[in-house]
Amino acid sequence: MEVIQKAARMRAVTAGLRAEGKSIGFVPTMGHLHEGHLSLVRHSLERSDETVVSVFVNPAQFGEGEDFEEYPRDILRDTDLLVKEGVQHIFYPTPEEMYPPGFRTYVEPEEISRVLEGAVRPGHFRGVCTVVLKLLNIVRPHLAVFGWKDAQQAAVIEQMVRDLDVPVEVLRAPTVREADGLAMSSRNTFLEPEDRKAAAVIYKALRAGRDLYVDGERDAAEIRRKVQDLLEAEERVREVDYVATVDPHTFQDVLKIKEGPVVLATALRIGKTRLIDNVVLEAGKD
Ligand code: PAF
Repeated sequence: MEVIQKAARMRAVTAGLRAEGKSIGFVPTMGHLHEGHLSLVRHSLERSDETVVSVFVNPAQFGEGEDFEEYPRDILRDTDLLVKEGVQHIFYPTPEEMYPPGFRTYVEPEEISRVLEGAVRPGHFRGVCTVVLKLLNIVRPHLAVFGWKDAQQAAVIEQMVRDLDVPVEVLRAPTVREADGLAMSSRNTFLEPEDRKAAAVIYKALRAGRDLYVDGERDAAEIRRKVQDLLEAEERVREVDYVATVDPHTFQDVLKIKEGPVVLATALRIGKTRLIDNVVLEAGKD
């Protein structure tokens, strides 16, 4: 296993693998790995001959006042976990390697990046798309794996890959949850113990929304109201940024749900920590 810091070296390694006829899987991460990331890694390992995992806290996707400086970093622990999983290559570039002096070009996604996460975090998806496109161009994988937890991010990337003819298959892998249902996230470590307990309300509320759907409710406003009410009943929930019912590909609002699939998504603050999660409403699935 090699930890690679230079783009040129990374490119040479995967060019060599391609020349040998090997398939390459790729999992981009910002490090501080948890079971959620490791499950993405396992999807890649299962489907590819060799897997590259990138660890890079991307400054371009953090807005002013967001947690870029505080974002947890621990490359030694991450390397250890990835070695245990059997990952063959880690790409761990410096900010200067990714954004050298004179860097001027950004990928600007359109409509899909202006709603929900994009509306609350302007410029976020521009930063995500720019770094992901650079990483895809450096690693040149056959397969790239993203998590359903960041469903809007996955949709934005799928759109970019289609629009810009990037030769890669994008796979969305299921969300991994703690025993009480909280979706795994690097930001969970910021939660104070009482807030961590309270955070179980997020999945509980989304499940209650999904139960309404399973029981036959098709009016999206009723489903959203149920979720919002349950979230607001938890006193440690400080702000609910949104509860939304959206198309999983365009992220445009869905008002009347037919057969689905529809993403029921929320973002909120508990204590100082902003968390997101979603479930899918789809006929025949509960
Ligand atoms: O999901 C993440 O961790 C990041 O947004 C990604 C895809 C690694 C890009 O920096």
